[in-house]
Amino acid sequence: MASSPLSHAPLLEVLDGRPPLRRPVWMMRQAGRYLPEYREARARAGSFLSLCYNPALAAEVTLQPLKRFDLDAAILFADILLIPQALGADLTFSEGEGPVLSTVANDKQVAALKLEGAADRLAPIYETVARVAAAKPVNVTLIGFCGAPWTVASYMIEGRGSTRERARLAALAAPSWFAALLEVITQASIDYLVAQLRAGAEAVQIFDSWAGDLPARAFSRWCIEPVRQLVAGVRAQVPDARIIGFPRAAGTNIIDFAQQAGVNAVAVDAGVSVKVMRDQLSPICAVQGNIDPLLLLAGGPALDAAVDELVQGLPRRRHVVNLGHGILPSTPIEHVSQFVARVRLRDSETRNEESGG
Ligand code: CP3
Repeated sequence: MASSPLSHAPLLEVLDGRPPLRRPVWMMRQAGRYLPEYREARARAGSFLSLCYNPALAAEVTLQPLKRFDLDAAILFADILLIPQALGADLTFSEGEGPVLSTVANDKQVAALKLEGAADRLAPIYETVARVAAAKPVNVTLIGFCGAPWTVASYMIEGRGSTRERARLAALAAPSWFAALLEVITQASIDYLVAQLRAGAEAVQIFDSWAGDLPARAFSRWCIEPVRQLVAGVRAQVPDARIIGFPRAAGTNIIDFAQQAGVNAVAVDAGVSVKVMRDQLSPICAVQGNIDPLLLLAGGPALDAAVDELVQGLPRRRHVVNLGHGILPSTPIEHVSQFVARVRLRDSETRNEESGG
């Protein structure tokens, strides 16, 4: 659950507000298709979902990026759409198209969702967490995760990720079934994150990938408020839970999010400037991000320059280096090595300038 007293895991130090021995770095979607060993494990599992529900293989895949790169975190291999599936939605991942789900659009369909026992049906995921927790190096932080209520609801309303209109319309018109749907998801997600933390996750991240769909007024009601309830619900059972929030593409709303959601860190997309990260976000909480995944794909001097600006622009005790969104499947592996090496190089220079580091 919590870190052992002897651990100096850099990511935990930053989330706890202490100066880390070095600036932590990890990547969203760091276990995935850009790695041949991932593609091989997925083929062995038979499908993406069978991989998610196979604790031995999912643990192996979670640890794969650590064998290649000097990273400070491992993120549980699973998916945000396992919660809708546990609530009774039909879920398939079709090649090329991504996820496809059965949809909800009225009070009756929301009432039919199976909240009772939903988190228990995800027991194989906690088994994966326990296996990774036992196998990982002590200074590497194991991160669990779930989707934020709005993003999960939007998949459940649309049935896919490629269209957004019905979900946005529901958020703006706010019919009773929409509020009820968010409550069901929030409740199931509290139980799910608590179970991950009890199984050995040392921090959790809440992915609100579609936060940018919500205009300012709706943002407060359907992004910040449900995440705040989720955070409070988890801490009611695990008081010292460390939580990272990722309201992707939230624009200026990210400042209210950082102030109100109650998270230890806010993850930011590539649209947020280093200046805003430093001057407006880092006084509130730790800040994670935000190299554009396309720059990682590009590599070369443009990637180095972006890393330099980020590392030199943010204080080590408040910064977790990451991408602004998930790594792209066609990213060359050497560019990931370049990225991590560049972070280490620039960070070792700033170390001498910062006190306590
Ligand atoms: O390495 C990690 O980050 C851990 C595992 C992880 C996955 N999905 C594995 C995955 C995490 C944290 C997620 C989160 C997730 N899943 C999000 C939030 C982050 C984001 O990207 O915005 C969302 C929206 C989903 C839903 C989802 N899962 C989509 C839209 C897709 C299809 C798009 C794609 O990249 O293929 C997935 C599939 C998925 N989830 C894959 C992986 C490795 C690819 C599946 C495959 O092997 O074919």
